[in-house]
Amino acid sequence: MVCTSYPKESIDARLEGQERIGRGGGGSGIGQATATRFLEEGCTVCVLDRSAEARERVATELPALSGVIDADVSNFEQVQAAVGEAIERMGSIDVVINNAGISIRHDFLDITPEEWDEVLGVNLKGVFQVAQAAARHMVARGSGVILNTASTGGSTGYPHYADYNASKGGVIALTQSLALELAPVVRVNAVSPGFVLTPMQRAEYSDAMLDAVNRKIPFGRHARPEEIAALFAFLASEDAGFATGHVYVMDGAETTGGLCSQWTHE
Ligand SMILES: NC(=O)c1ccc[n+]([C@@H]2O[C@H](COP(=O)([O-])OP(=O)(O)OC[C@H]3O[C@@H](n4cnc5c(N)ncnc54)[C@H](O)[C@@H]3O)[C@@H](O)[C@H]2O)c1
Repeated sequence: MVCTSYPKESIDARLEGQERIGRGGGGSGIGQATATRFLEEGCTVCVLDRSAEARERVATELPALSGVIDADVSNFEQVQAAVGEAIERMGSIDVVINNAGISIRHDFLDITPEEWDEVLGVNLKGVFQVAQAAARHMVARGSGVILNTASTGGSTGYPHYADYNASKGGVIALTQSLALELAPVVRVNAVSPGFVLTPMQRAEYSDAMLDAVNRKIPFGRHARPEEIAALFAFLASEDAGFATGHVYVMDGAETTGGLCSQWTHE
């Protein structure tokens, strides 16, 4: 999770009106790219991450961060403390971005109950816990934006990631439900990336597997984390002031076209 606030006089107009932003899993990949983007927009940012290595790296590479907070989003007490610390450091949270996520590449028949609980605990319960803690604060102050990270696997399915895809499908349903309950005070949307070249992806895919995936994507490549960060920046901004309750896909047309998506990019 990352939290941000920025001085109004210096902000990009697209983010005007959003002063403080919080996100989960900000110490790597898409999270770090998003923290970087919001800092570039003039925001003040706090990153929340459970990994000491990720926290150390992001603190070194992004010294302008207002805070790098140790928290496991699947742990209720740690989330309450972390959101409280983020509010204390920034005075408030205008935007929270749920980005923490894990995946395990395994066959459905091999998934253990412990693995299921672990993946759902981070990817879905974590989003619920951070969103609820942030939403209580946002409702009390009369405005806010919650952005959740889904995945194209959460709406289309994908082999070897049944638990991950179930968690992301849950994130989509949670996003839609929160948008209805919290309207018009808090906007709630989900970003649904296709394949993004991050440490998560590199951990599970060999170079040959990455090449094979790229050939199936009409754009012929993975997304860059910065491209996903740009979508978060747009959805956090006042330009997206009427956008709520939806899932915004960015996947290089990977999931477009039904059977056409079986087409191989040469
Ligand atoms: N990389 C992709 O292709 C891809 C595609 C679709 C969706 N996503 C989603 O984007 C998000 C970011 O993925 P990424 O590829 O940047 O991954 P990443 O592994 O590079 O970064 C994830 C970060 O989350 C942190 N984290 C994990 N569990 C946590 C927990 N319980 N509490 C706090 N922090 C925790 C990790 O320490 C890490 O810093 C995830 O939700 C992932 O499911 C990624």
